[in-house]
Amino acid sequence: MIVVTGGTGLVGGYLLLKLAEEEGPVRVLLRPGTKPEKVLEVWKHYLPDPASLLPRFEWVHTDPLNRAALYEALQGAEYIYHCAGKVSFDRRDKRAMWETNTHLTGYIVDFCLANAVKKLAYVSSVAAVASPKGEAATEASGWPVQKKNLYAKTKTRGEFEIWRGVAEGLNAVMVNPGIILGPGNWKQSSARIFDTLYHGMSYYTTGTSAFVDNRDVADALVQLMKSDQSGERFILSSATLSYKELFESITTALGKPAPAKKLSFFLSEIAWRGEWLLSRLTGREARLTSQTARTAHKKQSYSSEKIKTSLGFRFRDIQESIRETAQCYLADH
Ligand SMILES: NC(=O)c1ccc[n+]([C@@H]2O[C@H](COP(=O)([O-])OP(=O)(O)OC[C@H]3O[C@@H](n4cnc5c(N)ncnc54)[C@H](OP(=O)(O)O)[C@@H]3O)[C@@H](O)[C@H]2O)c1
Repeated sequence: MIVVTGGTGLVGGYLLLKLAEEEGPVRVLLRPGTKPEKVLEVWKHYLPDPASLLPRFEWVHTDPLNRAALYEALQGAEYIYHCAGKVSFDRRDKRAMWETNTHLTGYIVDFCLANAVKKLAYVSSVAAVASPKGEAATEASGWPVQKKNLYAKTKTRGEFEIWRGVAEGLNAVMVNPGIILGPGNWKQSSARIFDTLYHGMSYYTTGTSAFVDNRDVADALVQLMKSDQSGERFILSSATLSYKELFESITTALGKPAPAKKLSFFLSEIAWRGEWLLSRLTGREARLTSQTARTAHKKQSYSSEKIKTSLGFRFRDIQESIRETAQCYLADH
C-alpha cells in the first residue's frame, strides 16, 4: 500500500493524480480540519470531473503530531511519500514549521524503521542545500548554517531526520525542489506569488533562485520511488531566474503591469521592519518579512545535473509552466 502525506497541497495534489494510475490502494493522510475536497483546488485544473476521482483514494484523518494516532494511520504502509510541510517565512508560524517540517518527519522515519516500510520518498527543499558564493549549488554542497531563516532551518533538520534513518538502514530518497510553480490554493505556499502579482506589486528585488513545475516534482518523486536509488538527495531546478524575470513573466501572462521599481537591500531592510510593525498593530500577516526580504536579494542557483544523469530526467520549460499556471489563475478569477 502507498501512503501520502500532504496530498491536498500543490505537490501532493498532483502526485495523487499520478498515483491514481497505479494498481493497489493509496491512502492519503489529512489533518483533522482538512476535507478531501481541498485537493480539487489542484485537480480541477487537470480533470473535467475532478470529484469523480475522490473515491479512488482512502482518506484518513489523523493528528500528525500525535505519534500513536499517526502510527495507526500509517499501518500497512509499504511505500510512503512524505509531502506535508509548512511553507512560510512568517515567524508566527515558527511552531507549525518545527512540528511539521522537522518533528513529523522524524516520527515518520521512526515508523518506517520499526515497520519495515519498503521505501520513503521525502520532499526536502533547496533551502536545505548550502549555496556556495558564485557557483551553482549541488547535492554535495552540504547543508546551510541557518540562524534566522526558520523555514530553511526546519527543512534542513527535517532532512537530517531522513539521513539519520538512512544511517539506520532506511531505504529513502529525497528531492530538493526550487520554488515550485503550479496551480493550487492561491493563498497557500508558493502559488501565492501569482495572487500577489495579480493584485499588484510595485517593487522587484535583485536576487535569483531556482524554479520548478509542480508536475516535475511529482514525476521525480514517482520515478525515484520506482528506481533503485537510495540514500541520495536530488536537486530539482528547471531554471534559475532572477525575481525580476520571474515577476515580468508572471505579470505578462496575467496581463498585469510588472513591478517597475528596484527595491535596494537598504530599502527592503526598512520595508520589512515597517511591515513587522504594521502586522503587530493590525494582526494581519506581514507581506514582507526579514526572511523574505533577505532571501529576495540573494543570488542563488542550483544544479540539477544529478537527476538528469541518474534518471535521464527532463524538466518542463519553466516559461511554459508560468504561462499555464497564469491561465489557471485567470480561470479561477
Ligand atoms: N512550494 C514550494 O515552493 C516548495 C519548495 C521546495 C520544497 N517545498 C516542500 O514541498 C512540500 C510540499 O509543499 P507544497 O508547496 O505542496 O505545500 P502546500 O501546498 O502548502 O501543501 C502542504 C500540505 O501539507 C499538509 N500539512 C501538514 N501540516 C501542515 C501545516 N502545519 N501547515 C500547512 N500544511 C500542513 C497540508 O495538507 P493537509 O491539510 O491535507 O494535512 C498541506 O496541504 C513541503 O514539504 C514543502 O516544504 C515546497
